[in-house]
Amino acid sequence: MPQSVLFVCLGNICRSPLAEAALRAAAEAAGARLLVDSAGTGDWHLGRAPDRRAQAVAARAGIDISNLRARQVGPDDFHRFDHIVAMDHENLAALHRLAPPEGRARLSLLLDHVPGRRGQAVADPYFGEAAGFDATWRDVTAGAQALLRLILGPG
Ligand code: 4NP
Repeated sequence: MPQSVLFVCLGNICRSPLAEAALRAAAEAAGARLLVDSAGTGDWHLGRAPDRRAQAVAARAGIDISNLRARQVGPDDFHRFDHIVAMDHENLAALHRLAPPEGRARLSLLLDHVPGRRGQAVADPYFGEAAGFDATWRDVTAGAQALLRLILGPG
C-alpha cells in the first residue's frame, strides 16, 4: 500500500486543497506513489469546489484543482491515513479532539516539517487579499516537499 496523507484546514476550500495539489505534484515529479486527500474541520463549504483564488494560484502553477470538492474530516480518517497534516494550530487542536484513541494516523503541523519553520502556521488567506494565496502556495509547496522527503526517507 502506498503511504497516505490527508491535509486539513478549516474550510477545505483554500489551504488544504492547495497542499493536496502541491504534494500530488511533488510525488509525481519524484515518481513516488502516494494517496493524497484533503478535508476541513468545519462544515460550511461541504461539496464546494475550491475558492476561485485558490484555483487561480494552482492554475498559475499548471495544476487544475477545479474538480476537488470540500468534505469534512471524520473519525474514519484516523484509521485510513498514515499522516494527517494540519495547516494551523486551531486545525491541529480540532484533530486532537476528534482523534479516536485507537486511530493510527500521525498528526502534525505542516510547517513543522520545514527546517526553520517549526511551530509556524499556514496563514488563513480566506478573508485577506488575493496576494495572500501566493504566500499560501509558497508555504504549502515548501511543506509538501519536506513531507515528501520525510515519507520517502533517506536515499
Ligand atoms: P481554508 O480557508 O480553511 O484554508 O479553506 C477558509 C475558508 C472558509 C472560511 C475560513 C477559512 N470560512 O470562514 O468560511
